[in-house]
Amino acid sequence: MSAKQVSIKSCINLEELEARAGQILPAASFDYYRGGACDESTLRENREAYRRIKLKPRMLRDVSKIKKNLTIFDCELSTPIMVAPMAFQMLAHKDGELATARASANRKTLMTVSTLSTCSLEEVREASDFDLWFQLYVYKDREITRDLVSRAEASGYKALVVTVDSPVLGKREKDIKNRFDLPANLTVKNLTLHNLEKFPDEGDDSGLSTYIASIYDRSLTYKDLSWIASLTNLPVLVKGVLRADDALQALDSGARGIVVSNHGGRQLDTAVSTIEALPEVVEAVNGRAPIIVDGGIRRGTDVLKAIAFGASAVYVGRPVLWGLALDGKEGVEMVLDLINEEFENAMTLAGASSLEEVTRDLIFQSRGEI
Ligand code: FNR
Ligand code: LAC
Repeated sequence: MSAKQVSIKSCINLEELEARAGQILPAASFDYYRGGACDESTLRENREAYRRIKLKPRMLRDVSKIKKNLTIFDCELSTPIMVAPMAFQMLAHKDGELATARASANRKTLMTVSTLSTCSLEEVREASDFDLWFQLYVYKDREITRDLVSRAEASGYKALVVTVDSPVLGKREKDIKNRFDLPANLTVKNLTLHNLEKFPDEGDDSGLSTYIASIYDRSLTYKDLSWIASLTNLPVLVKGVLRADDALQALDSGARGIVVSNHGGRQLDTAVSTIEALPEVVEAVNGRAPIIVDGGIRRGTDVLKAIAFGASAVYVGRPVLWGLALDGKEGVEMVLDLINEEFENAMTLAGASSLEEVTRDLIFQSRGEI
């Protein structure tokens, strides 16, 4: 057994993985993965907000069998815990996105592959025998967007997740200091055909920030969302929504699902935590479309709370990268197993034997007499 395996096997929860990964990853990669924008207030709040929410478990329900499988956009999953789109996974491990895709397939859950993957979307599709979704960033050059959408559809992806919270990159101070760049052997592989596979070689900023500033389309509006939806038969989800009005306008513009997300605290600092933003979106959407939430989900009880507040499923982000860095495919499987076991434990102790029974009354609401 390698030293790396010993160190990951001794981790008992998702929080413990971060420090271990920090010991083995190059500092600039670790900083990029871990970091948030500016003071990292939103990054912290995503966790703190879950800790503040108290549960009101039910007793004496038959919890001898726990069912946590679900179907979302015709994808049959063993769990509502899915893998968030995350860029540049070969910075963590030589197998990069391929390992994450195989691990997700082995655990029968969805991985959403980032536009900024270090393996091409076709390579990732080939590596997995389970459903995958594709995350889309919209480039100024609309032909690139058209090409990415048609490649994702042609190679068999099951949904498109359009990320709308990143017209520019948030101010990530560590990345600026590190002048974050991809090592010579890694590229934005999906963009090779368009000669945009490398960050521009200029400026004192984070290379990623310069790349995004030069090629992402900041003029994007709901009209463009309708255009994207018109390009494909795949369901389109919109990722990065924190407000009821945006959720409704997205649905009216052709989106069929909403991802409540603040990009893991990496974009607008002091943006509201996602679990606090969720109820307003759930109320407005009112069952018209599935809602996914991400940001700071590290414990089984966090998943329980998200679903109790009305999410259909959740995305886990950074811990997957820690598992990948520490032990490749097996490391990602371990991360998924840890949080799924905690979630089952939380359902059992809360008296919910299926996802339908994870309802709002499980959340304690103070009567204000304290
Ligand atoms: C991301 N995220 C992200 N989102 C997206 O839509 N496209 C992307 O390429 C990326 N890339 C990316 C890289 C890294 C290193 C991180 C940490 C995050 C955001 C991601 O999908 C998700 O919203 C957050 O990571 C969820 O928060 P947690 O679970 O990391 O706290
Ligand atoms: C990030 C981008 C690439 O958060 O989504 O780093």
